Amino acid sequence: MTHPLRIGIWALVHGNRAALNDPEEPYDASWRRNRGLVLEAESLGYDCVLVAQHTMNPHRTDLGQLEAWTASAALAAETSRIEIIAAIKPMLYHPVVLAKMALQIEEISGGRFAINLVNAWNRKEIEDAGLVFREHDERYAYGAEWLEVVERLMRGEEVQHQGRYFQVKDYVLRPAARGRARPRIYVGGESPPARDLVAARADVWFINGQPLEDVQALIADVRARPRQGEPVRFGLSTFVIARETEEEAQAEYRRLLDLAAQDAEIKAYVKANTDPAVAMRKTQAKFQSVGTNGGTAAGTVGSYDQVAARLAAFHAAGIDTLLTQFQPFEREMRRFAENVMPRLAHLRAA
Ligand SMILES: Cc1cc2nc3c(=O)[nH]c(=O)nc-3n(C[C@H](O)[C@H](O)[C@H](O)COP(=O)(O)O)c2cc1C
Repeated sequence: MTHPLRIGIWALVHGNRAALNDPEEPYDASWRRNRGLVLEAESLGYDCVLVAQHTMNPHRTDLGQLEAWTASAALAAETSRIEIIAAIKPMLYHPVVLAKMALQIEEISGGRFAINLVNAWNRKEIEDAGLVFREHDERYAYGAEWLEVVERLMRGEEVQHQGRYFQVKDYVLRPAARGRARPRIYVGGESPPARDLVAARADVWFINGQPLEDVQALIADVRARPRQGEPVRFGLSTFVIARETEEEAQAEYRRLLDLAAQDAEIKAYVKANTDPAVAMRKTQAKFQSVGTNGGTAAGTVGSYDQVAARLAAFHAAGIDTLLTQFQPFEREMRRFAENVMPRLAHLRAA
């Protein structure tokens, strides 16, 4: 069954998505900006917002960084329709505390809250806090047990759990979710253990931006893994550059590529802090692109018609949530809503 296509945005938790120094988009990761961005996205018809989680700015520690969970709670109170998805790195919060926070934001939002489990790449962020940065596959073993506890608590179950990492006794959280079983669970990560976790416990898998054939292969891989319950659903991150003509879009792509080249020092710093085992890094290295999490590698640079057709092809392949990035964000988000969304609706109707 194909679900309707939902379109979301990345909140600007650490400012610009493609290049840090852009005269057209001064650095700003403040609450004030993000609040305005999300309220506008909601009024333009966007369906969800992902609030990524980083405690320290991963690019430059002297730059501001929006805190995901407190900001998500505030966004929940200020908005009325958009789904709010807060990222969570399991090693940062005990599952009981996190499940309680998730249920609180579920109540504030009136049933529009979701978590996105991400198993971390930034060794420095974790180790400098004095926390344990486990090796890649062990992070997934920890994350799977963590999510099992969180899932049952978010469902309102009384939890008894004696595991390898967590011992929880007679725990029950109230108020439970109303009108549905629990907040939605997304997972962002691409490695084989990430795919197992998705098949076992996620509602939606967020895939890094990449060409259609690669995405089709990833979807087939996850669909073939053991699963109980509803079929898993799929989301894709993509950086969009859309213009009236393909030439104009390519010119803007080159402008952003040139600006991104000025971030070489930042990229080297990020690379030095990144766990070399993470799949995201390998995917990102395969393609020339701008933006994070695959950036434009899904082929979303082109005319309005080309971009709409490409996104419709991903939808036909099983992607039902698109998570968009732009730069400068607000201007391009409006352009997309005005020019690409109607074309997409038209293609879907056809
Ligand atoms: C849609 C999406 C969102 C992500 N958000 C975050 C985030 O908020 N914080 C973070 O540290 N990593 C984030 N990540 C990166 C994951 O932490 C990263 O993919 C991790 O290394 C998982 O390992 P794997 O890709 O090897 O499975 C995100 C990844 C995706 C696909």
